Amino acid sequence: MTTAPTRKHFVGTAHTRVEGRDKVTGAARYASEIPFDRLAHGWLVLSTIARGRITSVEDTPVLAMPGVVAVLHHGNAPRVDTDYTGLLGTAPDPTAALFQHDRVPHAGWPVALVVADTSEQAREAAEALVVHYEQEPHDVDFTAEHPDAYPLDSHLPAVAEKGDLEAELAASAAVVDAEYTTPEEHHNPMEPHAAAARWDGGRLDVVDSNQGTLWVASELANLFSLDPASVRVRSEHVGGGFGSKGLRAHQVAAVMAATVLQRPVRVVMTRRQMFSLAGYRSPTRQHLRLGADADGRLRALEHRCLSLTSTVHEFVEPGADPARTMYDADAHHTANHVVRLDVPTPTWMRAPGEAPGSFALESALDELAEKLGIDPIELRVRNEPALGPVSGLPFSGRNLLACFREGARRFGWADRDPRPGLRRDGRWLLGTGTAAASFPAGAAPSTAAVTAEADGTFTVRINAADIGTGARTALTLVAADALEAAPERVRVRIGDSDFGPAFIAGGSMGTRSWSWAVTVAAEELRERLALGAAVPPEGITVRSDTTEAVGALARKERHSFGAQFAEVAVDVDTGEVRVRRMLGIFAAGRIVNPLTARGQFVGGMTWGISMALHEEAVRDAGTGGHYGADLAGYHVAAHADVPLVEADWIDDPDPDDPVGIKGIGEIGIVGAAAAIANAVRHATGVRHRHLPIRPDRVLMAGRHA
Ligand code: MOS
Repeated sequence: MTTAPTRKHFVGTAHTRVEGRDKVTGAARYASEIPFDRLAHGWLVLSTIARGRITSVEDTPVLAMPGVVAVLHHGNAPRVDTDYTGLLGTAPDPTAALFQHDRVPHAGWPVALVVADTSEQAREAAEALVVHYEQEPHDVDFTAEHPDAYPLDSHLPAVAEKGDLEAELAASAAVVDAEYTTPEEHHNPMEPHAAAARWDGGRLDVVDSNQGTLWVASELANLFSLDPASVRVRSEHVGGGFGSKGLRAHQVAAVMAATVLQRPVRVVMTRRQMFSLAGYRSPTRQHLRLGADADGRLRALEHRCLSLTSTVHEFVEPGADPARTMYDADAHHTANHVVRLDVPTPTWMRAPGEAPGSFALESALDELAEKLGIDPIELRVRNEPALGPVSGLPFSGRNLLACFREGARRFGWADRDPRPGLRRDGRWLLGTGTAAASFPAGAAPSTAAVTAEADGTFTVRINAADIGTGARTALTLVAADALEAAPERVRVRIGDSDFGPAFIAGGSMGTRSWSWAVTVAAEELRERLALGAAVPPEGITVRSDTTEAVGALARKERHSFGAQFAEVAVDVDTGEVRVRRMLGIFAAGRIVNPLTARGQFVGGMTWGISMALHEEAVRDAGTGGHYGADLAGYHVAAHADVPLVEADWIDDPDPDDPVGIKGIGEIGIVGAAAAIANAVRHATGVRHRHLPIRPDRVLMAGRHA
């Protein structure tokens, strides 16, 4: 007698990546590795000035170099259409509309593409290409006063205000009034951006590394005025994205060259080029004012966040947003402003808004707790809102305090002496800190197709993207449960725009949105098979579309929550800060695959260490470009910087999701840097309000400043 698999038991159990063996053996091929006949290689040439005009491109000598087949620039490139609204509801970033005019709006602006038979020939020729400019004065100084900064609506109102801020501050027993800054930060996924394009029987076929093939395909169709059905984009394996892998210059360059040459063309970014072409997180300047009664209840909360954008496209890093979910106050003012500078356009980077915003907000809460003599966790307990502070909507679930309770128990918070600068381990001063985390939990419409094959296996087709998150494996478990079949019998195919509409890997919404569609199709298929339907040779396929179901979700404040804890050791004589251990406890919906989910949380927390202590892209005012635009000059946390990082979760299934998922991609980084900064304060008595907490900053501040 065979035992049928128990219903609904694969979701929630650890499963290694279904493509893990392919990845570690090299069988899994990334975009730049997929072979094409007659492939040519394009190399982007970027501007060396930060503002001005291209006066001439000396392409003739370069065209005579070995292997060179074309030099594309504003004088000869195909025209593209930018007068459209993209899939994500925004106008296209003109940075992707390559070579359309002679203006240079920032250093590292793409000015030409050199195409040759080999990558080496293309690079050699690109480096030899002489471009003449008429240079104009530029401004890249974000630290200056910017009276022309303006509010910019993104997904939420730019400005939200209730109550009389000045009156409530005046009536408060304790007030925190401080400015916090975070620097320009870059995603640096392991796999650089890469795309190959070719025309194949009247269809444009693009192999790319991206977070959503249909997103890229629809942008390309719009730009090149093509029938969307004639554009296919595939992206099977992606070595990290973090928000940087949407439509960027490399895909457009590859398509332009493939069109002009009628030959497959691949364009790969170098690590250095990624610093100006891949997007980045804007630096922020954040002003916080908190006022509270002696018992800790907030009377006033003001959070103003200034970020920058380019002169060609508007993007806002909404650092003031987390305050709208986290804490209520009688007077509650939040505002996101931007200033335009002669720099590349920033973009989404893991927890856009929440990552830098939580650093400022959760540091300020810690400052307030200290002023009031209230434990920082207790201060958050006393300010737990019943409704969304700005929206007035009920929460779909808010398990923040449960995270703090469990985290405090496991971290050993109860024994903590709040006085700063008292604990020592040899030359190290020791301290602990905590911070709250939150991130929106959303779902977006998606379609899926699930096929019962004649051999008893199942094939799931969904245009998902696994950017390293483990989404493909999570979807395998979700499908297995819905089909009541073992995961080994389920094959999940993703990353192909021909599979139809599905949400991108973004906003921590991918796995949730795709799981919904997969569940609907798989359950219907299981029911059909249960009726005894014989499976014909071509299989039985059931399709789903969650547009209606997702649209019917009631309006609520939907978020994941978490509590971050950190212990640091600080050497005030060298300025070195070492994180000794971190613990994050999350309430982030049902966890589909504990193995890869832990990787997501720990990865986010690790990035929090990196954000707190290391990462900082520095612009040179003179050239408008970066110092050290590489992984030697731009420091990221390396293995030795990352000690014991533990992540765990409490049971928190989303009541309105068929699988109970909320999404976990981004919340791990939220609050992590604040927990570390709060621990540094506890260790040394010095409050660091500017990231990263570099050795020189620790040294200059000394102890008990
Ligand atoms: Mo993410 S910043 O939504 O890829």
